[in-house]
Amino acid sequence: MAVNIERNEGVATVTLNRPEALNAFDVAQLERLLATLRELRDDRAVRCVIVTGAGEKAFAAGADIKEMAELSPQAGLAHGRLGHAVADALEGLPQPTIAAVNGYAFGGGCELALACDLRLAAANAQFAQPEVTLGIPPGWGATQRLPRLVGPGVAAELIFTGRRVAADEALRLGLVNAIHPARLLPEATALARRIAANSPTALRAAKRALSRAFAGDPAVGLATELALFGQAFGTEDQREGMRAFIEKRPAVFSGE
Ligand code: CAA
Repeated sequence: MAVNIERNEGVATVTLNRPEALNAFDVAQLERLLATLRELRDDRAVRCVIVTGAGEKAFAAGADIKEMAELSPQAGLAHGRLGHAVADALEGLPQPTIAAVNGYAFGGGCELALACDLRLAAANAQFAQPEVTLGIPPGWGATQRLPRLVGPGVAAELIFTGRRVAADEALRLGLVNAIHPARLLPEATALARRIAANSPTALRAAKRALSRAFAGDPAVGLATELALFGQAFGTEDQREGMRAFIEKRPAVFSGE
C-alpha cells in the first residue's frame, strides 16, 4: 500500500498504489496522499502533476467501505474532513494537474479526478458516484465539482442513480478531455510536458484565475456537503448499505 511519486523533466507522476483493494483509500492512504500533495505544492521544480492508479483495473474504487462501515456521525465527519483536505489540496496545487483515469474511478476516486484540472481516460475508464447505493451522499466534493463540469441536471442524474459512465459517454459529457485507448500514461506525460514547457509563473496565474471562474463561494457548498456526509453515518441506511457491500449482497434500505 503506497502512494508512489516519480519526477521527470518537470512532471511529477503520483500513482495510487493499493491494487489489492482497487486503490480504494483507507485513512493511511489518504494521509500519504495528503503528505505527497503538500510536498509537491512546495516543489518549484515540478511544473505539472499527473495522478493515476496502479494496475490495469482501477484509478481508485473510492473510499474504503470496510473502514467506513461502522463509523459514528462524528467519525464520519472526521473521515469526510480528511477526504475534503485531500481533494482541496489537489485542487489547490499551484501546478496544473491531470488525472489519468485507467479503470474504475468511483466515489472518492471520481471525486479526486474531479479535483484535477484535466482528465484523460483509458478505454476501460468508468466513472461513478455510487454513494447513494451505500446509504450515504457523496462526501469528497462531487456535489460541488461535478455540476461545474457536466451541468446540474447531468450531475443530479449521476449522483441520484449512482450509475456508471463509460469513457465514450464521459467524453460526451465533458467529464474527460480525451480518451487514449492504448497509451494513456505516455499521452498524459506528453501533455504534461507540453504544459510544463510553458511559463511556470503564467501557468500559476492562469490556474488561480481559472479557479475564480464560477461565481459564488464553493467553500459554502463544500461545507454543506461535509456536514451531510457526517450525518449520514447516524443512519440505518449507511449501516445496511455498507454491510451489504461487504457481504456481497444487494442492500435493502429502510429509509431510517
Ligand atoms: N472499499 C473497500 N474495498 C474495496 C472497495 C472499496 N471502495 N472497492 C473494492 N474493494 C475491494 C473488494 O472488497 C475486494 O476485496 P476482497 O477481495 O477482499 O473481497 C477487492 O477490492 C476487489 O474488488 P472486487 O472483487 O469487488 O472487484 P470487481 O472487479 O468484481 O468489482 C468494483 C470492482 C465494481 C469497483 C467493486 O469493487 C465495487 O463496486 N467497489 C466499490 C465502489 C464504490 O462503491 N465506491 C464508493 C465508495 S464510498 C465513497 O467513496 C464515499 C465518498 O464520497 C468519499
